[in-house]
Order: sequence, then C-alpha cells, then structure tokens
Amino acid sequence: MRPIPSEMERVPRLTFPSGFLWGTSTSAHQVEGGNENNDWWDWEARPGAINDGSRSGEACGWWKGRAEEDLSAAAAEGQNAHRLSLEWSRLEPEPGRFDDLAFARYAQLLDRMRELGLVAMVTLQHVTLPRWIARRGGWTSWDTAESFARYAEECARRLAQHVPLWVTMNEPAACAAAGYALTYWPPGLGSNRMALRALAVMLEAHAKAYRAVKRIADGAQVGIVLSAPRIEPARSSFLDGAVAWAQDWAFLGATLRSLKTGVLQPPIAGRRARVPGLRGSFDFLGVNYYGRYAVHFDLRSPGLLFGKHVQDPTIRTGGCDWGEISPGGLTRQLVRLSRLGVPLYVTENGIRDSDDELRPSFLREHVAAVREAIGLGVDVRGYFHWSLVDNFEWAEGWVPRFGLRALDRDTQRRTARRSAGVYATICRANGLEAT
Ligand code: FCB
Repeated sequence: MRPIPSEMERVPRLTFPSGFLWGTSTSAHQVEGGNENNDWWDWEARPGAINDGSRSGEACGWWKGRAEEDLSAAAAEGQNAHRLSLEWSRLEPEPGRFDDLAFARYAQLLDRMRELGLVAMVTLQHVTLPRWIARRGGWTSWDTAESFARYAEECARRLAQHVPLWVTMNEPAACAAAGYALTYWPPGLGSNRMALRALAVMLEAHAKAYRAVKRIADGAQVGIVLSAPRIEPARSSFLDGAVAWAQDWAFLGATLRSLKTGVLQPPIAGRRARVPGLRGSFDFLGVNYYGRYAVHFDLRSPGLLFGKHVQDPTIRTGGCDWGEISPGGLTRQLVRLSRLGVPLYVTENGIRDSDDELRPSFLREHVAAVREAIGLGVDVRGYFHWSLVDNFEWAEGWVPRFGLRALDRDTQRRTARRSAGVYATICRANGLEAT
C-alpha cells in the first residue's frame, strides 16, 4: 500500500467498481412517525429531553405511506440501494408476540424497493427499544440479548427473501455513551459502569443475532454498523497521541477488537470475557463517518479521558460536536478498517445544513475520499448518505437538517435540495465527473 496523500494532493479518481451501492440511510423512529410503543416516545415527552422541545410525532409519515414517495424519488435520481431499519417495538409489541400486520407493512415496503431497483440493507435495531424491553432494564439486562436474538430470528424468517444485507445494530458504543454513561438519551443513567455493561450486553446480543440470521438465511450477508469518527492527536506530542489513542479505543477500538477476537476487551465489562459466537461475527462492517476530532491533552477534561477536542472550525448541533469536516479522515479510517479483512460500507455520512451551503462540496469530497480508499486497495462496496429526507434527530429534535430533501413538517411536502441533484449525478455516473 502506498502512503496516503494529503487532502491537497488528492485528485478525484472517477469511476467506482461496477455493482457499487449508492444510497441513503434512514432509521425507523426518525422517519416513520407514530412509534408510540418504544422508549423514545416516552423520553420525548419529558420536559427538556429534546433540545428544541419537539417530538418525533408523525415524523416523515413513512409508516402511513410516504416511504414509497421518498424511495421512488431516490430511485429516479439514480440510487440503487437504501438502508433502513425495522422498528422492534412494532414487530414485537409484547414479549414473544409478533405482529403480522407490521411485518406485512415492511414486506410491502421491501417489495416496492425491489421493484424500484433498490438493494435493501436492513438494520434490526437502530437506537430505539420496545417499551417492555426498556422497563426490564434495556441493554443493562442480559435477558435483552436473548430477546434480541429471538426477534432477529423472526425477522430473518419472515423477511429474508427481501433482504441481502442485514445489520444487527447501529452504533452500540455511541448508544452506550449517550444513554448509559451520559444522560441525553434514554434511559439517561449517567453511569460509566452501566455504559460498559450495556456495551457488553449489546455485543452479546449482536453475536446471537448474527448467528440467528445466518442460520435462517444462509445466503445473507450480516454485519454491524459502528460510529467511526477519525480521532487524531492535535500535535505530534506523546500526551496528545496517548489521549487520542485512549478515546479511539474507548469509542471504537475496544469494540472492534472484541468483535474480531470474540473476547470482550477492557474496559468493556461482562460477566464473562469470552462471548460465544462473537468472534468474527461480521461479514462486513458498516462505517458511520461524520468528521474528525483533533485531541489535545487537557487535565480539565476528565470526561473525555483528558483529551479536549480542539479542531477548528467544527460542526456543532446544540450539545453535540460532530468534529471537523475531513474527507481525508474518511480515507484514513477506511484504510485502517480494511485491516479487518471484510468488505466495508460507508453506512452513514452527511452534514446538518438546512441551507445546503456546504453539503454539495461535502458530498463530492467524501465520495472522492471513498474512491481514494478504493484506489489504495480498500474493499468498499457502497456509500449511503445520511439522509434521504430531513428527519427527527434524536435529542436535537428537528433543528438539524440532514436531508437531501427538505421536509415541511406542517404539510409533509418535500423539496429536493441542490445536493439531491449533485448526488444524482454521482449515482448515475457511478462516480465523479472529472474536474
Ligand atoms: C448517527 C445516527 C443516525 C443519525 C445521524 C445524524 O450517529 O446513527 O441515527 O442521527 O447520526
């Protein structure tokens, strides 16, 4: 492998391998509307839980039929894939009772996607949990791993014929951090000990679900999606390097090593260190990448393992720092992750930008960064932009606008942003035009 050129030297190399997947990503709770039976519905009702005071409400109306409209637009604009998630609380509203009508709605949606020529990547769990699971302790309860495997098996049994690519869960470490170590997502525990336990339970649940889906749908590819910001030392000093390494390990490295070896790595807690079925439990890795953090040793940042984020400028949404826009960081991250030896998909990449000022160049530059990684020998099979249409952005509510299409929540009208056209050009050309 030759050394990675700096951002300035990078020349966009045009065409992508044939069969490359071009799509967008969504998640059930953020677009469907009316998900009244999960932990987020209750969380949103608590005063102050959502920064702008909003609720997911009817969201983008996907459950009641708007999904078809958005997905048709995606296909008409040259996309050939879509990543969506199933809402566990709809499919299993009570322990062990599966809902035929809810399964039928997803089957209908997946059928329509096939007619539209959109390859389905389906995530079994994206942030939300059924209320009955939450009441039982959510991811802090070992029973949740068993329940998740049973649910995964049922999904595979009923939907496998529509789904070539399965994702067990989305961003386990980020969920453990936001809801268990911190207090801005449910269940809002604010306990590092509980966060480590939650991550251990999630990895056990992932391993069981991976095996369950593979048992039923042996041709399916099953993976996991991890949040993978690029975390680098601000300066080339030992201390900056050490704290950057520690942050990366806590957020990503420990999970990756656990998946690869089947042994939970410190500091992830667990009643057993070796998790049956965990080793190598991913046929591909989904990479969610939004930006890069520059980390500077700082004794006043104990919550960040003594590493302050000093990149400037950075992208912020309310309480959340998404890091600096860095296509080069994506290339470097893909090169690093390619060492796992499985195909990679960029399963999320995007920017909050209601005026669509930065998104067109953000999109082109990140697609170029993926192409750069492919040129360096990395096996990247698809790029899914976050997101197809503005949607409910968790604790940030409706203020951050990530969509290629703008949503008017009062009328449910969609308006394509300029970026939708930029992305259509990329998808139709299977790459970037020479500039
Ligand atoms: C990711 C989440 C996704 C969405 C984007 C903006 O971390 O997986 O649901 O909120 O951020």
